Amino acid sequence: MEILRHVVVLVHLVGFAVLFGAWVVEAVSKRRQVTPLMNWGLAIAAVAGLALAAPWGISYELNYVKIGVKLVILLIIGALLGIGAGRQRKDGAVPSAIFWSIGILTLLNAALAVLWR
Ligand code: HEM
Repeated sequence: MEILRHVVVLVHLVGFAVLFGAWVVEAVSKRRQVTPLMNWGLAIAAVAGLALAAPWGISYELNYVKIGVKLVILLIIGALLGIGAGRQRKDGAVPSAIFWSIGILTLLNAALAVLWR
């Protein structure tokens, strides 16, 4: 059970890497678009995160306040990805506040996961 949980944590990290990596590529290339890879990364992190939110394969208490905050932030990122994609289709560009918020909130969720014990 413990090994399986570690595998799910690994999948969760892959989701984070895909979402954040896709965002960094857009930021560095100065295209600043919302891409389908970001949605995939978010979906992978969400599914694995929800599986990890149940207390299996561990001998310690989960921090449900932290998990709740992470879930709310994930939903906000999802909404921003949707709004950003809509604006991109309509105007050809994602408003910079939306684009930067996606990256910052993703990093914030990773920081909460690692730093809030
Ligand atoms: C963009 C969204 C997210 C990012 C970037 C993210 C990032 C991370 C990272 C980097 C870790 C590893 C921390 C460590 O092992 O020290 C982690 C662990 C975890 N995440 Fe997330 N996360 C996200 C969304 C979620 C969601 C939505 C949930 C649940 C509703 C969740 C639940 C968990 C749990 C329970 C762990 C601990 C796993 C364990 O130690 O057994 N995460 N997350």
